[in-house]
Amino acid sequence: MFKFIFFAVLAYFLGSIPTGVIIGKKMKGIDIREHGSKNSGATNAYRVLGARYGVMVLAADAAKGFFPVMFADLAGIEGTLLILVGLITIMGHSLSIFLKFKGGKGVATSLGVFLYLVPQIMLVTIGVFVIVAYFSKYVSLASVTCAALLPILTLIMPIRESLIRVELFIMTFLIGAFVIYRHRTNISRLMNGNENKFKFK
Ligand code: G3P
Repeated sequence: MFKFIFFAVLAYFLGSIPTGVIIGKKMKGIDIREHGSKNSGATNAYRVLGARYGVMVLAADAAKGFFPVMFADLAGIEGTLLILVGLITIMGHSLSIFLKFKGGKGVATSLGVFLYLVPQIMLVTIGVFVIVAYFSKYVSLASVTCAALLPILTLIMPIRESLIRVELFIMTFLIGAFVIYRHRTNISRLMNGNENKFKFK
């Protein structure tokens, strides 16, 4: 149990690192929370700072999800507790201690967590994300679609033996619901036809 608490705390603090805000402020002198969608995530970093910075934030936010789960796994944490480490990392990203418990919408960090835990499922999810984003030009629509799709895929696709399918479903369902909730302003913009379209830079 001590080991789990150690990794849970580590995951929360690593998840909390506001990469989008740090990269924007340190490299371009811009706080991305004051521009564009005002989100601190990769899409808004791309929109406000440019492609290079958007990719950097995406990689950093995904790494914040991937590595805490990988370290916990290598330290022997398994099953439910391992999934919980991932969940805590995503909560750290979205409810960051360094941003007064505010933060991103959880998409890139979830990508990192589930790329480690269930890589096959994530590859399908990434494929769907790219198709929806490419044809609709709405990143938020792709995010919401994948947040809804992920729990369904955990029921039908192969998963590693050490994970329990029903637990994985519950966790991905909760995370998916959380990600969709964090997109509520995007969803109302999508319904009103004034959501920001993705523009290649
Ligand atoms: O991952 C966040 C994305 O789905 C939407 O970002 O900046 O358009 O609200 P944004």
